[in-house]
Amino acid sequence: MLIAPSLLSCDFSRFGDEIKRVDKAGADIMHLDVMDGHFVPNLTFGAPVVKKLRPASEKPFDVHLMISEPHRYINDFADAGADIISFHTECDSNIDETLKLIEDRGVKPALAIKPGTNPQVVLPYLDRLYMVLVMTVEPGFGGQSFMPDMMEKVTFLRKEIAKRRLSTLIEVDGGIAKDTIATAAKAGVDICVAGTAVFGAPDAKTAIDELRELCK
Ligand code: DX5
Ligand code: ZN
Repeated sequence: MLIAPSLLSCDFSRFGDEIKRVDKAGADIMHLDVMDGHFVPNLTFGAPVVKKLRPASEKPFDVHLMISEPHRYINDFADAGADIISFHTECDSNIDETLKLIEDRGVKPALAIKPGTNPQVVLPYLDRLYMVLVMTVEPGFGGQSFMPDMMEKVTFLRKEIAKRRLSTLIEVDGGIAKDTIATAAKAGVDICVAGTAVFGAPDAKTAIDELRELCK
């Protein structure tokens, strides 16, 4: 299991140092939540901030776009150094064209689905995806409760990925903690995003080690 701390729960006044801290603590991937106050009722940061953070770690930057028109910003996030860009199937941009923009920049493309979205919507694009992000809370805020029902979607996608002999990864995001991560692992998740569970813990390394251990 790969652990991707969500920086949404970090101390934003020390953003770069927080990335260095979780890097040292053993984070596999840096999960960066971009919100536009329109697709979700919250605002965070954009590509200029990601660009300034880029030198803080060599770990992959996983940029989760919770924005209505992702196609307008793909080049900016690619320039900023994103390794993975995920955007939502529920957004207002054309999915095929937005994926093409990501592919053309050599960035790894991912599609994200909200809790109310049927996973079938990603099937036409599955062969092109590096990753599918299954939300296990309503996007917008950290610290919400994990929705175990979403594991049905993980099982469904896992089967489809195996059937097509793809190497597409499955990521879950929201409410991942010591009492929920085993459920995700059992369902076949590859990457767990964890905000509160990492940044709310007294020691990030202990928190990450424990989360990984619980998947065995
Ligand atoms: C929610 C974000 C998540 C969030 C997870 O919209 O996409 O990445 O930070 O936070 P926790 O782990 O606290 O649920
Ligand atoms: Zn996220």
